[in-house]
Order: sequence, then C-alpha cells, then structure tokens
Amino acid sequence: EAKERTDRIEAALAELGDDVVILGHNYQRREIVEHADFIGDSYQLSKEAADADAEYVIFGGVTFMAESADIITDDDQSVILPSMEASCPMAGMAEALQVDSAWAEITAAAPDANIIPITYMNSYADLKAFCASQGGLVCTSSNAHEAFEYAFERGDKVLFLPDKHLGENTAHRLGMEDEIAEWDPWDPEGKDAEEVAESDIILWDGYCQVHERFREDHIEQVREANPGAKVIVHPECRREVVEAADVAGSTATICETVANADPGDTWAIGTEIHLTNHLQRWHPEVNVLPLCGDACMDCNAMRQIDPNYLAWVLEELVEGREHNVIEVAPEEKELAGVALDRMLEI
Ligand code: 13P
Ligand code: SF4
Repeated sequence: EAKERTDRIEAALAELGDDVVILGHNYQRREIVEHADFIGDSYQLSKEAADADAEYVIFGGVTFMAESADIITDDDQSVILPSMEASCPMAGMAEALQVDSAWAEITAAAPDANIIPITYMNSYADLKAFCASQGGLVCTSSNAHEAFEYAFERGDKVLFLPDKHLGENTAHRLGMEDEIAEWDPWDPEGKDAEEVAESDIILWDGYCQVHERFREDHIEQVREANPGAKVIVHPECRREVVEAADVAGSTATICETVANADPGDTWAIGTEIHLTNHLQRWHPEVNVLPLCGDACMDCNAMRQIDPNYLAWVLEELVEGREHNVIEVAPEEKELAGVALDRMLEI
C-alpha cells in the first residue's frame, strides 16, 4: 500500500513538474519529507516559500506555516495544506481578540511605556498583523533573541506571545531574566495589569504541549544510561530543561549539530519524535537517541499531514482541481507581511 501511494505521488509530481514545490517541516513523517523539495525549520521554510516560483506550494507543516507562506508568496501562487486539521495548539492559545483586550489593559497600566509586541511564528495571521500595527514583528526559535534586540532598540518593553518558554529562554539568553512577568489570559488573578506592566518582558502564558513534557529527569536518565551523551533540546522546552541540556536551538540547529557530530558521538534529542527518527536515518554514524523514549513526544498537529492526503491534493491538481488552499484575508495579509518582513530583515 505504501509503495502504491509513493508511486501515485511520484506520478502526480512528474505530471505537475515545475508547477509544484513541496516544503516539509522537520517534524513531518518520513513519507512526507521524502517527497519534499526542501526540508527545514519554520524560518528556513518561510525563506524557501519567499523564493519559490512554483504555481503551487504544498506545505508539509501546520496552518500557521502555510499562512505565512501565503503571505510571503505572490498573489498568483497557491499554498496548499494537505490536511486542514493540521493546526498547532500553541498558535490557538493567543487569539487576536484576546490579545487585543490584554493589550488595552497593559498599555493603559503603563501609559508612558513604549511596548513592542513580538509574536512567535507559531501564531495566526491576524495576530501577526496586530503586532505589525503596534510596531512589532514575528520571530522564530532561531532568531527570537534578535527580535528582542530589535524591539529594545525601538521600545522599552516587550510583550512576547504565545510561547512563554521560548520567551523565558530568550530573556535568559539576553541576561534579562529578572525582568520577566507572565500574563495568564485564562486566570483572572494572573492578569494584574499594573503589576505586569512594571516588568520589561511580559510573557503570554502559552506553551507547546509536546515540548512542555520534557523534564530534567529525562536528561539525568539519558546521561546515566549513556555516559558521554550530549543533550540538545528545542527552546520551547521549560527553562530548567534548557538549562540542564548542553545545547538548545531551533530544529535547524538540532539538525546541524547532529550533522557536525563526530562518528560515534551520542546526542539525545529533546524535540518532536519524527525529527529524532529522521536524524537517526540521516546520520547512522552518530548515536542519536530520543530524550524521552518515543511514546509521548509526537505532535498530533504535524501528524495530520498523512501521505494519503498528499497523494490526493497532488492528483487533484493534475485534474485541475485545487483543494485546501490557505488564503489569508486581504485585510490581514499586508500587515502580517510587514511583521514577517521585519523578521526576514533582522
Ligand atoms: P522550528 O521553528 O524550530 O522549526 O520549530 C517549529 C515548531 O513548531 C516547534 O515546535
Ligand atoms: Fe505546535 Fe508544538 Fe506541534 Fe510545534 S510541536 S507544531 S509548537 S504543537
């Protein structure tokens, strides 16, 4: 069945030729990345989308990534997400309306401050547009510290959303760990605007349900069982996990670290399990281990991109039918594009 599906995908791709480019996030399953023209982290893929000439950009990733690709590509290009169910739960934790009302409260509590909002790439286009409208920008896990620097050159406080762990880890990287306050939009007591507005870095209380599950004792266990093992984790992990690891970095940094390891080195990987599996396949000379077994670190949003759906959208394109086209509303597109351009410029 898998072979038949691969043949169908390849036949459709041969038919479509240069009309199609496939982008695959590092967390996609093997059957998707094997067909991808480019594999990478969300920053690299946004650059590939910006450079793509193809009429159809098929995005092996989640909705916010496809939205960003739609914003960056030309109007005559279509971005297709093989499954409309592939939505990152973290992106859903900061809805633009909710952020709008928090913004009103926080700015009223600090009327003299110039607060710059920064949103992680893992957010929807309306939130990216909101950030641009307030002088802010987008960042990914590979350039969050540069986005903070950009903001502090222009303002005196940052509202970072939705990922509190990436925000906290970035504050530490910049030596600003004493300047942090958290804004919990779901807890009435976690929303003391006066108190929060005293801090220079205000973190929205969102998180990734995959990365939040890594714990310090996973690192202790892996080091105990594998003396000499080094640990690399994604900065969406909790602060104490990032502190205990040897290295923290975006999925691209994780890939580079393993690619540059010496044969026989052992690296334990604290991120979504599909990337760990790819690294084991791509670098058999390195001993690549999942940080926490392989049972629980599976992103079910990324998993929605089933190869059967990839075959379906491609075969339908051969027949001249477009499905699952991701289109950002025109009123959000321009401003969200400004927030993304500011990131691409830093
Ligand atoms: P990267 O930007 O490192 O690819 O991460 C995206 C993501 O969704 C991590 O959970
Ligand atoms: Fe979202 Fe986490 Fe999945 Fe990344 S791994 S897409 S942040 S749920």
